[in-house]
Amino acid sequence: MTSTTGAAETTGTLQELARRHLWMHFTRMSAYDQVDVPIIVRGEGCYVYDEHGKRYLDGLSALFCVNIGHGRGDIAQAGADQARELGFFTNWSYAHPRAIELATRIAALAPGDLNRVFFTSGGSEAVESALKLARQYFKLAGHPNKTKVIAREIAYHGTSLGALSATGITGLREPFEPLTPGGRHVPATNSYRLPEGVTEAWFAESIAEKIEFEGPDTVAAVILEPVQNAGGCFTPPEGYFQRVREICDRYDVLLISDEVICAWGRLGEWFGAQRYGYQPDIVTTAKGLTSAYAPMGAMIVSDRVAEPFLEGTNSFMHGFTFAGHPVCAAVAMANLDAFENEGVVDNVRANEGAFRAMLESLRELPIVGDVRGAGYFHAIELVKDQETKESFDDEESETLLRGFLSGELYRRGLICRADDRGDPVIQLSPPLIAGPEQFEEIEQILRPILIEAGERMRVEDEHRGQRYVERRG
Ligand SMILES: Cc1ncc(COP(=O)(O)O)c(C=O)c1O
Repeated sequence: MTSTTGAAETTGTLQELARRHLWMHFTRMSAYDQVDVPIIVRGEGCYVYDEHGKRYLDGLSALFCVNIGHGRGDIAQAGADQARELGFFTNWSYAHPRAIELATRIAALAPGDLNRVFFTSGGSEAVESALKLARQYFKLAGHPNKTKVIAREIAYHGTSLGALSATGITGLREPFEPLTPGGRHVPATNSYRLPEGVTEAWFAESIAEKIEFEGPDTVAAVILEPVQNAGGCFTPPEGYFQRVREICDRYDVLLISDEVICAWGRLGEWFGAQRYGYQPDIVTTAKGLTSAYAPMGAMIVSDRVAEPFLEGTNSFMHGFTFAGHPVCAAVAMANLDAFENEGVVDNVRANEGAFRAMLESLRELPIVGDVRGAGYFHAIELVKDQETKESFDDEESETLLRGFLSGELYRRGLICRADDRGDPVIQLSPPLIAGPEQFEEIEQILRPILIEAGERMRVEDEHRGQRYVERRG
């Protein structure tokens, strides 16, 4: 990446300016020294186009976001109309019609008594808000030591320092230590790599054990995604969430369902908790709420948890200037209108079987170890050996994912995620308007690339073996 010194050089091609001035998130900037920065300029339905006019199938809904699909004029118009009427007013001590209407609509869609909506500008802010709410809730209830949060290993719950204490990815935490105190972690529900000597029931029991170990009087909340994204779409085993709910009730611990990805139809229901039949105390969400046509998140709180904050001189001592922004709220309303009028959630339910069947058909390739997920949210775990489930080591993962798959998938026109925050996976999470035509296109790109990846890794393995023999000899 070009570094800048002195006065900003503001002329050049988009490529040059990107290299000089744009700081991309979670990005090895030097990776673009030799290759172009991918610059996406427009989108339509399930497809986006780069600066050269090349078309890509957006198999990731941008970043698990654009649930309704790209390029919707009606949703853009709703934002424009609102900007003209009331461009901005805050939710700090004031309300405005769109925030009220949206909060009401979310409360009606959310399960059970999740009736109180606190808006944010994104997912990390929603998680941050939930963790702070849990702490203040227990202070008001006379349990000031209940401050810790239990999350799962490898789970991603955001990057702000509070949310980061729940995020369970060492590489994301380490550069910022010491973190906000109180984050504790239990195993993810990785049924594919279930440790010897335990059953799947252990996943939920490990939460009870952790609470006992820490001391129930010190634990405020358990935060879990309905399907865990990082690590590759870990689904809950049968009865997992029912048991977690029992554990939370037993120890007086709040259950936060982090649905930044899993709400808004992603799993074929409005909320992920509905898919798995459990009742959270708090839901955190963002992304698909507006299909990312405007940045917005929300924390949705049960009547029971909200109640102490509504009494006397109490208030939740927390807020963000832009949260509940009227333009974002209007966009969210238009997005939800489109969802309802066009049966978007039904589309996921109707087609998830075909999506899954296409992915399952890839199991015949030796590099495919596991296929897992729910709705339009799936991962393929890549392995060295299907039989033994042997995974790739760090160096091999680097060669496989960053050295080949990421670039090659993009080059052949498929946007998806090749990720190794746990074992190496490819993740697919297409817009919820996708159907068999897009699944076929995904397969046509993915299958030959996975065959080639398997072949390359076999050859790489032989070379490594050769080098090892030579070194020893
Ligand atoms: C489950 C979960 N929680 C929180 C976040 C953080 O959201 P944001 O990037 O909008 O801050 C994400 C982002 O992907 C997420 O997937």
